[in-house]
Amino acid sequence: MTAKGRFITVEGTEGVGKSTNIAFVEQLLQQRGIAYELTREPGGTPLAESIRELLLAPRDETVDPDCELLLVFAARAQHLRTRIQPALAAGRWVLCDRFTDATYAYQGGGRGLNGEHIVALEALVQRELRPDLTLLLDVPVEIGMARARGRGALDRFEQEQLSFFERVRAAYLRRAAEEPQRFRVIDASVSLPEVQQQLAGALEAYFDE
Ligand code: TMP
Repeated sequence: MTAKGRFITVEGTEGVGKSTNIAFVEQLLQQRGIAYELTREPGGTPLAESIRELLLAPRDETVDPDCELLLVFAARAQHLRTRIQPALAAGRWVLCDRFTDATYAYQGGGRGLNGEHIVALEALVQRELRPDLTLLLDVPVEIGMARARGRGALDRFEQEQLSFFERVRAAYLRRAAEEPQRFRVIDASVSLPEVQQQLAGALEAYFDE
């Protein structure tokens, strides 16, 4: 029987260097010969990617926060059942660019939604499934936003105010403090080699667990 794969998520506010650092995490997995799938949220399947487009598109109409929350979990249900769970069951690891901690941070912290509603939807959609390890890339919001703005057209989330991202960051850090066994907080404000050194340290220790 194949052992169940492990579920690793990567989180952070805008402009923390997620893409570059995820590529580095992939290298570490490959060096260990670990079979894995890289995916992202919202998204990861054709239907969930369509929901992502709905969520990220800037629009004139105000998006109701409950509508946003339900779309995020609708995409997650599809992604989990058709992609993440089958991969884990087949013994592959899953490396996911954002997951439910982002919902607690953006919809809970950023939009100010009631955390109990998120807990209820998490239980409905995920049952017992939670990430095994979460890498939180952390940078002060002004640094991250300056990097994100340098990338060109902003999506609906990136157009938010600094105060929104301060709440998102604070919510992420609170979750990390509440679950220190699952989270590894990486200081992503330092140079890339230093960030990678922290990631390698965290992952090498985790691989040996
Ligand atoms: P990104 O994948 O380019 O970082 O963008 C995804 C955006 O979606 C990002 O601004 C955060 C947002 N998001 C939520 O608001 N809630 C969620 O649960 C997830 C997964 C993402």
